[in-house]
Amino acid sequence: MPHQKREFSFARKDFNRLCELVNEHTGIQLGDGKEDMLYGRISRRLRQLGLPSFAAYIQLLESDRAEEEIEDFVNAVTTNLTSFFREKHHFDYLRDSLLPELMRRNRVSHRIRIWSAGCSTGEEPYSIAMMVAEVVPKDWDVKILATDLDTDVLAHGERGVYDIGRVESVDKATVKRWFMKNRKDDPTHVKVRPELQRLIHFRQLNLLQPWPMKGPLDIIFCRNVIIYFDVPTKQMLVNRYADLLGEGGHLFLGHSEAMHNISNRFTLSGKSVYIKANQ
Ligand SMILES: C[S@@+](CC[C@H](N)C(=O)[O-])C[C@H]1O[C@@H](n2cnc3c(N)ncnc32)[C@H](O)[C@@H]1O
Repeated sequence: MPHQKREFSFARKDFNRLCELVNEHTGIQLGDGKEDMLYGRISRRLRQLGLPSFAAYIQLLESDRAEEEIEDFVNAVTTNLTSFFREKHHFDYLRDSLLPELMRRNRVSHRIRIWSAGCSTGEEPYSIAMMVAEVVPKDWDVKILATDLDTDVLAHGERGVYDIGRVESVDKATVKRWFMKNRKDDPTHVKVRPELQRLIHFRQLNLLQPWPMKGPLDIIFCRNVIIYFDVPTKQMLVNRYADLLGEGGHLFLGHSEAMHNISNRFTLSGKSVYIKANQ
Protein backbone atom coordinates (compact mmCIF):
# COMPACT_ATOMS: atom_id res chain seq x y z
CA MET A 1 0.00 0.00 0.00
CA PRO A 2 1.33 3.45 -0.85
CA HIS A 3 2.35 5.40 2.25
CA GLN A 4 0.78 8.88 2.53
CA LYS A 5 3.75 10.66 4.13
CA ARG A 6 6.41 9.24 1.87
CA GLU A 7 8.49 11.51 -0.33
CA PHE A 8 8.59 8.88 -3.11
CA SER A 9 5.81 6.48 -4.01
CA PHE A 10 6.79 2.93 -3.13
CA ALA A 11 4.34 0.43 -4.61
CA ARG A 12 4.16 -3.20 -3.51
CA LYS A 13 5.50 -4.27 -6.89
CA ASP A 14 8.52 -1.97 -6.41
CA PHE A 15 9.21 -3.58 -3.03
CA ASN A 16 8.87 -7.09 -4.49
CA ARG A 17 11.18 -6.34 -7.41
CA LEU A 18 13.79 -4.72 -5.15
CA CYS A 19 13.68 -7.79 -2.88
CA GLU A 20 14.42 -9.96 -5.92
CA LEU A 21 17.33 -7.74 -6.90
CA VAL A 22 18.71 -7.72 -3.34
CA ASN A 23 18.52 -11.51 -3.31
CA GLU A 24 20.15 -11.82 -6.71
CA HIS A 25 23.12 -9.63 -5.78
CA THR A 26 23.65 -10.52 -2.10
CA GLY A 27 21.73 -13.70 -1.23
CA ILE A 28 19.90 -11.68 1.45
CA GLN A 29 16.24 -12.60 1.86
CA LEU A 30 14.12 -9.60 2.78
CA GLY A 31 10.75 -10.66 4.08
CA ASP A 32 7.58 -8.68 4.58
CA GLY A 33 8.11 -6.17 7.31
CA LYS A 34 11.30 -4.87 5.72
CA GLU A 35 9.46 -2.34 3.58
CA ASP A 36 10.23 0.70 5.74
CA MET A 37 13.85 -0.33 6.13
CA LEU A 38 14.29 -0.75 2.38
CA TYR A 39 12.44 2.50 1.68
CA GLY A 40 14.73 4.41 4.06
CA ARG A 41 17.93 2.99 2.64
CA ILE A 42 17.06 3.27 -1.04
CA SER A 43 15.34 6.68 -0.91
CA ARG A 44 18.76 8.10 0.05
CA ARG A 45 20.11 6.74 -3.25
CA LEU A 46 17.15 8.25 -5.12
CA ARG A 47 17.96 11.67 -3.68
CA GLN A 48 21.67 11.33 -4.42
CA LEU A 49 20.95 10.31 -8.02
CA GLY A 50 18.14 12.86 -8.48
CA LEU A 51 15.69 10.14 -9.51
CA PRO A 52 11.94 10.81 -9.31
CA SER A 53 10.70 7.38 -8.21
CA PHE A 54 11.49 3.85 -7.10
CA ALA A 55 10.32 2.65 -10.50
CA ALA A 56 13.05 4.82 -12.11
CA TYR A 57 15.64 3.36 -9.72
CA ILE A 58 14.57 -0.19 -10.57
CA GLN A 59 14.79 0.70 -14.25
CA LEU A 60 18.37 1.85 -13.66
CA LEU A 61 19.23 -1.43 -11.90
CA GLU A 62 17.81 -3.34 -14.86
CA SER A 63 19.48 -1.25 -17.54
CA ASP A 64 22.86 -1.64 -19.19
CA ARG A 65 24.13 1.11 -16.83
CA ALA A 66 23.37 -1.09 -13.81
CA GLU A 67 26.98 -1.99 -13.18
CA GLU A 68 27.78 1.57 -12.04
CA GLU A 69 25.01 1.46 -9.44
CA ILE A 70 25.21 -2.10 -8.13
CA GLU A 71 28.02 -1.33 -5.65
CA ASP A 72 26.09 1.55 -4.04
CA PHE A 73 22.88 -0.48 -4.12
CA VAL A 74 24.54 -3.40 -2.34
CA ASN A 75 26.26 -1.10 0.17
CA ALA A 76 22.88 0.50 0.91
CA VAL A 77 21.04 -2.75 1.58
CA THR A 78 23.51 -4.68 3.75
CA THR A 79 23.07 -4.66 7.52
CA ASN A 80 26.45 -4.07 9.12
CA LEU A 81 25.75 -4.20 12.85
CA THR A 82 28.84 -5.38 14.71
CA SER A 83 31.01 -4.60 17.72
CA PHE A 84 34.39 -5.39 19.29
CA PHE A 85 34.31 -8.74 21.12
CA ARG A 86 30.71 -9.39 20.12
CA GLU A 87 29.78 -12.70 21.79
CA LYS A 88 32.83 -12.44 24.00
CA HIS A 89 32.88 -16.16 24.85
CA HIS A 90 34.10 -16.81 21.27
CA PHE A 91 37.21 -14.72 21.86
CA ASP A 92 37.87 -16.26 25.29
CA TYR A 93 37.65 -19.69 23.66
CA LEU A 94 39.98 -18.56 20.89
CA ARG A 95 42.61 -17.22 23.31
CA ASP A 96 42.38 -19.86 26.04
CA SER A 97 41.73 -23.01 24.07
CA LEU A 98 41.81 -22.90 20.28
CA LEU A 99 44.96 -20.85 19.60
CA PRO A 100 47.04 -22.87 22.14
CA GLU A 101 45.71 -26.05 20.49
CA LEU A 102 46.68 -24.75 17.02
CA MET A 103 50.13 -23.84 18.29
CA ARG A 104 50.59 -27.48 19.27
CA ARG A 105 49.07 -28.87 16.11
CA ASN A 106 50.87 -26.52 13.70
CA ARG A 107 54.19 -26.49 15.59
CA VAL A 108 56.10 -27.62 12.48
CA SER A 109 54.63 -25.16 9.99
CA HIS A 110 54.26 -22.26 12.48
CA ARG A 111 51.34 -21.17 10.34
CA ILE A 112 47.74 -20.22 11.22
CA ARG A 113 45.09 -19.12 8.73
CA ILE A 114 41.88 -17.43 9.82
CA TRP A 115 39.00 -16.01 7.78
CA SER A 116 36.46 -13.48 9.02
CA ALA A 117 33.71 -13.86 6.39
CA GLY A 118 31.26 -10.95 6.52
CA CYS A 119 33.65 -8.82 8.61
CA SER A 120 31.65 -5.57 8.34
CA THR A 121 33.61 -2.53 9.63
CA GLY A 122 36.44 -4.66 11.05
CA GLU A 123 35.62 -5.03 14.76
CA GLU A 124 35.46 -8.83 14.40
CA PRO A 125 38.85 -9.36 12.65
CA TYR A 126 40.54 -6.83 14.98
CA SER A 127 39.14 -8.66 18.02
CA ILE A 128 40.55 -11.91 16.55
CA ALA A 129 43.88 -10.17 15.89
CA MET A 130 44.08 -8.97 19.53
CA MET A 131 43.71 -12.56 20.73
CA VAL A 132 46.32 -13.77 18.23
CA ALA A 133 48.77 -11.03 19.25
CA GLU A 134 48.33 -11.90 22.92
CA VAL A 135 48.91 -15.63 22.52
CA VAL A 136 50.83 -16.52 19.36
CA PRO A 137 54.58 -15.74 19.20
CA LYS A 138 55.50 -12.96 16.78
CA ASP A 139 57.61 -15.19 14.54
CA TRP A 140 54.60 -17.33 13.57
CA ASP A 141 53.08 -16.88 10.13
CA VAL A 142 49.53 -15.79 10.98
CA LYS A 143 47.16 -14.27 8.46
CA ILE A 144 43.60 -13.09 9.01
CA LEU A 145 41.58 -12.62 5.85
CA ALA A 146 38.68 -10.22 6.40
CA THR A 147 36.08 -10.09 3.63
CA ASP A 148 32.75 -8.45 3.01
CA LEU A 149 30.55 -7.63 0.07
CA ASP A 150 30.11 -4.01 1.14
CA THR A 151 33.01 -1.80 0.00
CA ASP A 152 32.17 1.05 2.43
CA VAL A 153 32.55 -1.15 5.52
CA LEU A 154 35.77 -2.63 4.13
CA ALA A 155 37.28 0.83 3.68
CA HIS A 156 36.34 1.61 7.30
CA GLY A 157 37.94 -1.61 8.52
CA GLU A 158 41.09 -0.99 6.56
CA ARG A 159 41.40 2.53 8.03
CA GLY A 160 41.01 1.09 11.52
CA VAL A 161 39.68 4.34 12.99
CA TYR A 162 36.70 4.07 15.35
CA ASP A 163 34.47 6.39 17.25
CA ILE A 164 35.55 6.32 20.89
CA GLY A 165 32.09 5.06 21.88
CA ARG A 166 32.82 1.80 20.04
CA VAL A 167 35.46 0.83 22.61
CA GLU A 168 33.53 1.91 25.71
CA SER A 169 32.48 -1.66 26.48
CA VAL A 170 35.97 -3.09 25.86
CA ASP A 171 38.03 -3.54 29.03
CA LYS A 172 40.41 -0.68 29.72
CA ALA A 173 43.63 -2.74 29.62
CA THR A 174 42.75 -4.03 26.13
CA VAL A 175 41.99 -0.52 24.86
CA LYS A 176 45.23 0.79 26.31
CA ARG A 177 47.24 -2.02 24.75
CA TRP A 178 45.74 -2.15 21.26
CA PHE A 179 44.39 1.32 20.46
CA MET A 180 46.07 4.67 20.10
CA LYS A 181 44.96 8.23 19.45
CA ASN A 182 43.78 8.80 15.92
CA ARG A 183 45.33 12.26 15.80
CA LYS A 184 46.65 14.58 18.49
CA ASP A 185 43.71 16.95 18.05
CA ASP A 186 41.00 14.27 17.76
CA PRO A 187 39.66 13.16 21.16
CA THR A 188 36.60 11.43 19.69
CA HIS A 189 38.30 8.65 17.72
CA VAL A 190 40.82 5.89 18.36
CA LYS A 191 42.93 3.93 15.90
CA VAL A 192 43.96 0.28 16.12
CA ARG A 193 47.69 -0.32 16.44
CA PRO A 194 49.63 -1.13 13.25
CA GLU A 195 50.75 -4.51 14.72
CA LEU A 196 47.11 -5.62 14.47
CA GLN A 197 46.58 -4.10 11.04
CA ARG A 198 49.57 -6.03 9.72
CA LEU A 199 47.86 -9.33 10.57
CA ILE A 200 44.71 -8.54 8.58
CA HIS A 201 44.03 -8.41 4.84
CA PHE A 202 40.73 -6.75 3.94
CA ARG A 203 39.26 -7.88 0.60
CA GLN A 204 35.91 -7.59 -1.14
CA LEU A 205 34.25 -10.95 -1.64
CA ASN A 206 30.69 -11.96 -2.37
CA LEU A 207 30.10 -15.21 -0.50
CA LEU A 208 27.76 -16.40 -3.26
CA GLN A 209 30.46 -16.19 -5.90
CA PRO A 210 33.65 -18.24 -6.40
CA TRP A 211 36.33 -17.76 -3.71
CA PRO A 212 39.96 -17.21 -4.68
CA MET A 213 41.56 -18.78 -1.59
CA LYS A 214 42.69 -22.37 -1.61
CA GLY A 215 42.98 -23.36 2.04
CA PRO A 216 43.29 -25.33 4.15
CA LEU A 217 42.18 -22.81 6.77
CA ASP A 218 42.26 -23.34 10.52
CA ILE A 219 39.39 -21.10 11.57
CA ILE A 220 36.43 -19.43 9.88
CA PHE A 221 34.29 -16.82 11.60
CA CYS A 222 31.01 -16.33 9.75
CA ARG A 223 28.81 -14.79 12.39
CA ASN A 224 25.51 -13.04 11.89
CA VAL A 225 25.75 -13.40 8.11
CA ILE A 226 23.95 -16.63 7.10
CA ILE A 227 20.98 -15.57 9.20
CA TYR A 228 19.96 -13.38 6.24
CA PHE A 229 20.10 -16.26 3.71
CA ASP A 230 17.58 -18.97 2.79
CA VAL A 231 18.20 -22.61 3.80
CA PRO A 232 19.70 -23.83 0.47
CA THR A 233 22.14 -20.89 0.49
CA LYS A 234 23.11 -21.59 4.13
CA GLN A 235 23.68 -25.27 3.24
CA MET A 236 25.77 -24.42 0.21
CA LEU A 237 27.91 -21.95 2.19
CA VAL A 238 28.49 -24.16 5.20
CA ASN A 239 29.51 -27.05 2.90
CA ARG A 240 31.98 -24.77 1.15
CA TYR A 241 33.39 -23.78 4.55
CA ALA A 242 33.84 -27.49 5.36
CA ASP A 243 35.70 -27.96 2.06
CA LEU A 244 38.03 -25.06 2.83
CA LEU A 245 38.82 -25.95 6.45
CA GLY A 246 41.63 -28.35 7.25
CA GLU A 247 41.26 -31.36 9.50
CA GLY A 248 39.91 -30.25 12.87
CA GLY A 249 39.11 -26.79 11.44
CA HIS A 250 36.73 -24.60 13.43
CA LEU A 251 33.69 -22.65 12.27
CA PHE A 252 32.23 -19.90 14.46
CA LEU A 253 28.60 -18.94 13.78
CA GLY A 254 26.40 -16.31 15.42
CA HIS A 255 24.46 -17.42 18.49
CA SER A 256 21.16 -17.53 16.60
CA GLU A 257 22.55 -19.48 13.63
CA ALA A 258 22.16 -23.19 14.37
CA MET A 259 23.80 -25.89 12.26
CA HIS A 260 20.72 -28.05 12.72
CA ASN A 261 19.28 -29.00 9.28
CA ILE A 262 22.15 -27.21 7.56
CA SER A 263 25.08 -29.64 7.45
CA ASN A 264 26.25 -32.88 9.05
CA ARG A 265 29.90 -32.12 8.30
CA PHE A 266 30.43 -30.36 11.64
CA THR A 267 30.10 -31.33 15.27
CA LEU A 268 29.31 -28.86 18.03
CA SER A 269 32.31 -27.97 20.15
CA GLY A 270 31.13 -25.03 22.24
CA LYS A 271 28.45 -22.36 22.20
CA SER A 272 27.97 -21.83 18.42
CA VAL A 273 31.49 -23.15 17.69
CA TYR A 274 31.75 -26.14 15.34
CA ILE A 275 34.57 -28.52 14.41
CA LYS A 276 34.81 -30.07 10.99
CA ALA A 277 33.88 -33.72 11.46
CA ASN A 278 36.26 -36.50 10.35
CA GLN A 279 34.74 -38.12 7.27
C1 LIG B 1 25.53 -8.14 10.61
S1 LIG B 1 27.09 -8.03 9.81
C2 LIG B 1 28.05 -9.17 10.79
C3 LIG B 1 29.41 -8.63 11.12
C4 LIG B 1 30.27 -9.53 12.01
N1 LIG B 1 30.50 -10.81 11.40
C5 LIG B 1 29.65 -9.69 13.38
O1 LIG B 1 29.08 -10.76 13.67
O2 LIG B 1 29.68 -8.76 14.18
C6 LIG B 1 26.80 -8.97 8.31
C7 LIG B 1 27.79 -8.65 7.20
O3 LIG B 1 27.63 -9.61 6.15
C8 LIG B 1 27.85 -8.95 4.92
N2 LIG B 1 27.23 -9.70 3.80
C9 LIG B 1 25.92 -9.84 3.52
N3 LIG B 1 25.75 -10.57 2.40
C10 LIG B 1 26.99 -10.90 1.97
C11 LIG B 1 27.49 -11.65 0.85
N4 LIG B 1 26.66 -12.20 -0.05
N5 LIG B 1 28.82 -11.77 0.72
C12 LIG B 1 29.66 -11.20 1.63
N6 LIG B 1 29.26 -10.50 2.69
C13 LIG B 1 27.93 -10.34 2.87
C14 LIG B 1 27.22 -7.57 5.13
O4 LIG B 1 27.73 -6.59 4.23
C15 LIG B 1 27.56 -7.28 6.59
O5 LIG B 1 28.69 -6.47 6.73
